[in-house]
Amino acid sequence: MRRVVASAPGKVILFGEHFVVKGCLGIASAINVRVQAEARLTRGEKLRLYSRNLGFRVVLRKDMELEELPEDARPFASILRYLVSQGYNFLGAEIEIRSHLPPGAGLGSSAASAAAFALAYTHLHGDALDKHRLFIASLEAEKIAHGKPSGIDPTISVYGGWIAYRRDKGASRVNARLDAGYRFIVADTGVRRKTGPIVESVLALAEKRWDVLKHVYRAAEEVSEKALRALEIGDYETIADLMNISQGLLNAIGVSSLEIEKLIAIARSSGALGAKLTGAGRGGSIVVLAPSDSSRVTETLKGYSPWVSSVALGDEGSRIDQE
Ligand code: PMV
Repeated sequence: MRRVVASAPGKVILFGEHFVVKGCLGIASAINVRVQAEARLTRGEKLRLYSRNLGFRVVLRKDMELEELPEDARPFASILRYLVSQGYNFLGAEIEIRSHLPPGAGLGSSAASAAAFALAYTHLHGDALDKHRLFIASLEAEKIAHGKPSGIDPTISVYGGWIAYRRDKGASRVNARLDAGYRFIVADTGVRRKTGPIVESVLALAEKRWDVLKHVYRAAEEVSEKALRALEIGDYETIADLMNISQGLLNAIGVSSLEIEKLIAIARSSGALGAKLTGAGRGGSIVVLAPSDSSRVTETLKGYSPWVSSVALGDEGSRIDQE
């Protein structure tokens, strides 16, 4: 019986979430917290898919309608449809998704699960998807999970590293200069939310108040452009200021929340240089820039957040871990 373990990284959006949906520049990085998919061939034509941490167990068949499935399993079924359209057979298999990321927390757990799943399953066929088709498969899954994804999450989960992303132009690599004097910390508010409805409500507000919000979108574009230059020369003082300004802009479009503001205030008052929400907001996670010689920010956040992690940015994209 063949067995394979594939993995894909989670991500943080450092600049431009939401604004990216209307064409602004977004900047994101893979983090060294990954999702693994372990796949084994089995007899028959059933695909058993389960995840203890994400809390689902389903049996997928070739001829299934997405609506027959629990919501969490639908993105995987849409990947299977894509694979069948690409000429893959429907092999019987058992696949376990093991996520080290909190789900629904803005850290890209759904895209990472999709990429790890698609890579593991196609590897079992002896014909692993190349990066481009893996991206398309993960994007198909994100469309089911999130409605109108910009494409940032599947890009990061497949290609890894740091990216600058524009909806019409796609991704380009960012050569971020890391500095051992600083570290990034991620803290989860513990409030789960769905990205799709939040994106919809931001778009509706932008339409209704465009006369005012066009200035906020323009400011967000400028923040991202300046941040890109600051990252490439390793100017962390500027990056910290821009993260704080970015949080103000995200607040202006209505995606902050009491829980986010509280964690940010705690991070800043315990020594963080920059702090903002990351991902869709209204819950989910914050990303913090702090001096690396102080553990106070992490230790303090742990008193208020169910999941705090000091993360390394720029991690590798999807890969086979074991076969
Ligand atoms: O998937 P999340 O929750 O990390 O956030 C997605 C980021 C948005 O810019 C809000 C939407 C998108 O598709 O880019």
